Amino acid sequence: PRPRPLADKRVLITAGPTHEAIDPVRYIANRSSGKQGFAIAAAAQAAGADVTLVSGPVELRDPAGVTVIRVESARDMLHRVEAALPADIAIFAAAVADWRVANEGEQKLKKTSAGMPQLALVENPDILATISKLTDKRPPLVIGFAAETEHLIDNAKAKIARKGCDWIVANDVSPATGVMGGDRNTVHLLTRDGDDIKVDSWPVMTKEQVATELVATIAKTLGK
Ligand code: C5P
Repeated sequence: PRPRPLADKRVLITAGPTHEAIDPVRYIANRSSGKQGFAIAAAAQAAGADVTLVSGPVELRDPAGVTVIRVESARDMLHRVEAALPADIAIFAAAVADWRVANEGEQKLKKTSAGMPQLALVENPDILATISKLTDKRPPLVIGFAAETEHLIDNAKAKIARKGCDWIVANDVSPATGVMGGDRNTVHLLTRDGDDIKVDSWPVMTKEQVATELVATIAKTLGK
């Protein structure tokens, strides 16, 4: 039989973009495909974990044996994540929209002679930071992602401190890399050990391979 290093572990994963409504027919979104988060969910399930995947709108099928909860907005995602706790490991791979429209229109916005609609934005809740800072239900291992187009490692280090998570998977999403929507990913795993941060740079891999490696690293760490 296949080894099940995450047997009896509850793993909570977010994936995909979020959609932030402008009015009943329009929304703000981003280019996240959800592929990396779905691959992690499948790899954790294969390692024997009890996996809950909270996903924004994506065109991917539910991984076998995973509990998938589909949401639209950042606020929906936060609520479903909170409701899915407790977990042993939380992995926040979603590309959550940083902002939403302050006054979502109840009716479709119309073109008028009065000029362009002005969309005021307000900040969305930060799911990773919120869960990392919980005192009672904080998962023992909280992992975030840092998609950057410049100063990748420095930004990722700052993010560990700011968000309060344990590990960050940093990836370069400059358009030339083709990571957003693509099948490959080049990542650096940053792990915090007290005040020290270790950086492990992985070679270019498929998103499935990144998922398998990440799950193997988690299993190795928990086994210590
Ligand atoms: O700050 P930034 O968006 O780059 O941080 C990325 C990390 O934070 C990812 O792990 C992402 O899933 C998480 N995040 C979140 N909620 C937000 C924004 C980001 O969980 N509102």
